[in-house]
Amino acid sequence: MDTPQPLYSAESVRELDSRTIAALKIPSIALMKRAGRAAFNQLLRRWPDVRRIQVFCGGGNNGGDGYVIAALAAQKQIPVTVCACVDPQKLKGDALEACHYARREGVQIVTSPTALDDADGDTVLVDALLGTGFRGELREPMDHAVGCINRAPAPVLAVDIPSGLSADTGAAAEVVRADATVTFIGRKLGLYCGRGPALCGEVIFEDLGAPAEVHNGLAPLAKRFTETSIKRLPPRAADSYKNQFGRVLVVGGDSGFGGAALMASESAARSGAGLISLATHPQHLPAALTRCPEVMAHPVISGQELEPLLEGPDVIAVGPGLGRAPWGEQLLARAGRAETPLVLDADALNILAGGRVLAGLRRDDWVLTPHVGEAARLLDWDSAEVLADPRAAATAVQQKFSGVVVLKGAGTLIAHDGGVDLINSGNPGMASGGMGDLLTGVIAALIGQHLSPLEAARLAVWLHGEAGNRAAEDGQRGLLATDLLPHIRRLVD
Ligand code: ACO
Repeated sequence: MDTPQPLYSAESVRELDSRTIAALKIPSIALMKRAGRAAFNQLLRRWPDVRRIQVFCGGGNNGGDGYVIAALAAQKQIPVTVCACVDPQKLKGDALEACHYARREGVQIVTSPTALDDADGDTVLVDALLGTGFRGELREPMDHAVGCINRAPAPVLAVDIPSGLSADTGAAAEVVRADATVTFIGRKLGLYCGRGPALCGEVIFEDLGAPAEVHNGLAPLAKRFTETSIKRLPPRAADSYKNQFGRVLVVGGDSGFGGAALMASESAARSGAGLISLATHPQHLPAALTRCPEVMAHPVISGQELEPLLEGPDVIAVGPGLGRAPWGEQLLARAGRAETPLVLDADALNILAGGRVLAGLRRDDWVLTPHVGEAARLLDWDSAEVLADPRAAATAVQQKFSGVVVLKGAGTLIAHDGGVDLINSGNPGMASGGMGDLLTGVIAALIGQHLSPLEAARLAVWLHGEAGNRAAEDGQRGLLATDLLPHIRRLVD
């Protein structure tokens, strides 16, 4: 298995820059030239037919990278213009040296953002306005330049990070929308969570020859798990039997909300759980038996009726379609005290947030799977605060309730005792009802198959997103949660 990728803060990446310069025994301008060359090569790889390049340069070292790119383009005789958003006469240090380099190569430098109406598919724009030095909100003239870039009908390559995107949180107000981002030396968390995935396009990592030891002792904000770094289920022995693969109980589906609990049950079944029971409102029994007769559906009208069902399972998933009425509250109150690992989703989280049920309960063996709104309710924050720093929100939920917290989003964050993990899989087609119910069922099934809650959360998030990607090969719009089920089945082995 590969080790997960560290995702750093801006401050840590600056430390990596300095350590790299020291370890390679090169001047910082040499590192800047490596960065510029790496970005230019990626530009040519991605847009081999480029006929014109327009580079937007800021006044710091990110701008310096941009001047290097312009110099290299001129050397290759590709028409290139630099739009300098900070007067070149005010540049200092490496950025100034890079600007001289561009001038020596004959690059034309203009000092006001030019109209880009004539930019077309043969033109590539390079965003080298702001990198990891960006703080706060965009100031003049950067905000104007960002507007020019975003309005131009031409593709955009961002250098290190799209200008205006926070490297630490993925938050952004005015920000460049890039088609590709070449990022250097250390991956920044903000590229992968919050608004980052929607703004960066393809993220291309270039280590610029930094030796592995520059990372020693530098704590990342999060670790990014990909397919090759996630623990999978072992193969099944020839003499396997169903009791070895977990008895899952799904609790949910109040009157009128039956589909969610059915989908969670079915996804647990398709993820390899040995036996699945469903405790649901009596009105959903015929549908449950028809849709998936393998699931043992039990009618419950009170917490008391749930009690005997709580004795058998290895894992209990509570929440899909639970509702917030007394029926759901009673079931959660009972299930939440069972001495069995739990997965809590949807209205189980909303009831928990209300504080009347399971008040003050902290469990190491539960997995909470909030989306942004649910996380906000659990924390008594605004959704905007969660969006502004999703890592901080996931960590705060974990600190409040313990266990494993899966904050769902384009970059899903998994907070646990040992830190924060991030998994990017999935696509915008998955922004539709029922997807979360499926994830709940997958996590429960994997816990039933003897993964720890954390291992189950990691594998389930990846599986779910990858199944979504495969199902979206037929189109993202109109993707149904149940379309993922056959793919989950294929991927889980
Ligand atoms: N609005 C407008 N301007 C802003 C804002 C804002 N909200 N926030 C910050 N700025 C300005 C700052 O005032 C600063 O300008 P100043 O230098 O004139 O004071 C400028 O933006 C700093 O921006 P950056 O270029 O992002 O910061 P920095 O100069 O630290 O460079 C770096 C970042 C190193 C280029 C990084 O993004 C990167 O790409 N690293 C990869 C390796 C590399 O290329 N290194 C370069 C050489 S090595 C080295 O520099 C150590």
